[in-house]
Amino acid sequence: MKAKITLAKEFRIGNIDKRIYGSFIEHLGRAVYGGIYEPGHPTADENGLRRDVIDLVKKLNVPIVRYPGGNFVSGYNWEDGVGPVEQRPKRLELAWGVTEPNYFGTNEFAEWCKKANAECMMAVNLGTRGPDAARNLVEYCNHKSGSYWSDLRRSHGYEEPHNIKLWCLGNEMDGGWQMGAKTAFEYGRTALEASKLMKWTDPTIETVLCGSSSRNMHTFGSWEAETLEIAYDGIDYVSLHQYYGNHEDDAANFLARTLEFDDFIYSVICICDYVKAKKRSKKTINLSFDEWNVWYHSNNAPYEKWSVAPPQLEDIYNFEDALLVGSLLITLLRHCDRIKIACLAQLVNVIAPIFTQTGGGVFEQTIYFPFMHLSNYGRGSALLPLIDCPRYDSRDFTDVPYLESIATYDEENEEMAIFCVNKSLDESVVLDVNLMDFGGYKPVEFLSMDGYDKKAENTFNAVNVRPHGNPVPALDGTTLTAELKPFSWNVIRLKK
Ligand code: AHR
Repeated sequence: MKAKITLAKEFRIGNIDKRIYGSFIEHLGRAVYGGIYEPGHPTADENGLRRDVIDLVKKLNVPIVRYPGGNFVSGYNWEDGVGPVEQRPKRLELAWGVTEPNYFGTNEFAEWCKKANAECMMAVNLGTRGPDAARNLVEYCNHKSGSYWSDLRRSHGYEEPHNIKLWCLGNEMDGGWQMGAKTAFEYGRTALEASKLMKWTDPTIETVLCGSSSRNMHTFGSWEAETLEIAYDGIDYVSLHQYYGNHEDDAANFLARTLEFDDFIYSVICICDYVKAKKRSKKTINLSFDEWNVWYHSNNAPYEKWSVAPPQLEDIYNFEDALLVGSLLITLLRHCDRIKIACLAQLVNVIAPIFTQTGGGVFEQTIYFPFMHLSNYGRGSALLPLIDCPRYDSRDFTDVPYLESIATYDEENEEMAIFCVNKSLDESVVLDVNLMDFGGYKPVEFLSMDGYDKKAENTFNAVNVRPHGNPVPALDGTTLTAELKPFSWNVIRLKK
């Protein structure tokens, strides 16, 4: 089939905030223990941080990582995770039914972030705790010295503050599964007061209000409106969470989920702006899509109750998952004027692009690669491509474009990239790109992932599902032509 894309400088959506390429580490399963932290592992550094994992995180180029949860944070006493390790308590962790030994906590995570070239996005417990514990944690992390909590940090060996700028006000507080779940009114008030105290402690921080746990919640929409009406002036972002699965084994329908994802984002933008209008406010609330991914392969996998760091949520991803992850990230970029932060959930072992063996090796899952491409090459500003392509109907969707695409333009470095997913299972797309006023740009690299069985996975021994290079596409005047193989992920890079 044939498709056409037109690109122009005027089609600029906005600057891409690098935090859109964020990720997430929760105290859950083997994300921390056996994931990023494993003293005694052959690659562990003097702090027990796995260097093999850090190397892959660096290649992924993740600028910000959310921590320590997730559901975990709603029962967490952050004080349990600081100070001499041998004095830290072991706690029953009710969110995931395990024992948390607290060998790893706030300072260790701040240390890990430095080594991984990432900022920390810290979540506070607004489930079983509240504004007081939250503002103490801000003081512990960000105040230089001369107060109880800042001096405690210094006595723990961290003379300099961690200067954490971005803070989540709890996690999924509308969900019945959450410790200390709340009504919209209860949460709106708690979040507003917590944010107030946290910002009084450090006025340079930004805070994220919990939106609905997903678009499927029956309270979705009214939760956002009600909590925002209460907390609007005191917070900076509202969060979105969404995961997808392919239980029906219907690849066409699975990849069409981007339409729903797009609709979800658009709805939340509208709700934020509805509250803005109602309040006659000059302030715009932006979005933090701080949990998104494919999650279903590992559902209901058994684990030993109250054990320490058992394998949990260990999805092994296949090729079709990689295409959806690439398509979802493209969709996020299409809203980069309003989405400033997004976190692929999660980063290591737990529904993650990086997978380790405790005591052993590590490998890149299929979803690692589209994320890596976008995070490395999708910088600068995003351009909304004018796409002309055939469409299909699937079980739940109509008029699904076969081609999912975004272009990015890094003016400073004179680089561009065009990212495309061909969703057709059996037909190539012959793509013409009209570069219009990007006439001086020439294609320099064409990377793709194609030709794999849709269920193909990577393993410790064989990272087979990975990108490969192709001949650079032809350029005739300002028209670039490329063949996008059936069911494929594609990146065309251009330079001036
Ligand atoms: O990422 C796994 C879990 O999904 C998180 O703990 C929770 O916030 C969400 O429901």
